[in-house]
Amino acid sequence: MGFFKRLFGICQTASPADDGCWNFENGKIEIQLDRAPEIKNQGGAIRLEGNGSPERVLVIHGRDGQFHAYKNRCTHAGRRIDPFEENESLRCCSISKSTFDYDGSVISGSAKKPLTPFKVEQDAGKLTVSVV
Ligand code: FES
Repeated sequence: MGFFKRLFGICQTASPADDGCWNFENGKIEIQLDRAPEIKNQGGAIRLEGNGSPERVLVIHGRDGQFHAYKNRCTHAGRRIDPFEENESLRCCSISKSTFDYDGSVISGSAKKPLTPFKVEQDAGKLTVSVV
């Protein structure tokens, strides 16, 4: 990622092309996987914002084959997070590049506190993320 993108905190992960693939209700986000091709393969990710959700959420299909979700705010200064290349890790889009494990623990960078992971359940073509 380039310097200016990092300077302005522009993350790599996009919103889903089909915004109707997800909804927020009763503290949970539900994602219809057949409408979210961005997370079909390992390494894929989407960021979910709005739709009544109280949190910005990053959902990834991890290199470990599992789905993971996080509060999409770096604990250093609140910038968004992206999956980090081929590794099983995440990286802040800011200049300081804080890097985290899939469990949210800090690996390196300016962040001192872990990311907030959310519980993810998969059932019959649907992901449910418990946000609150
Ligand atoms: S906001 Fe993430 S390292 Fe500064």
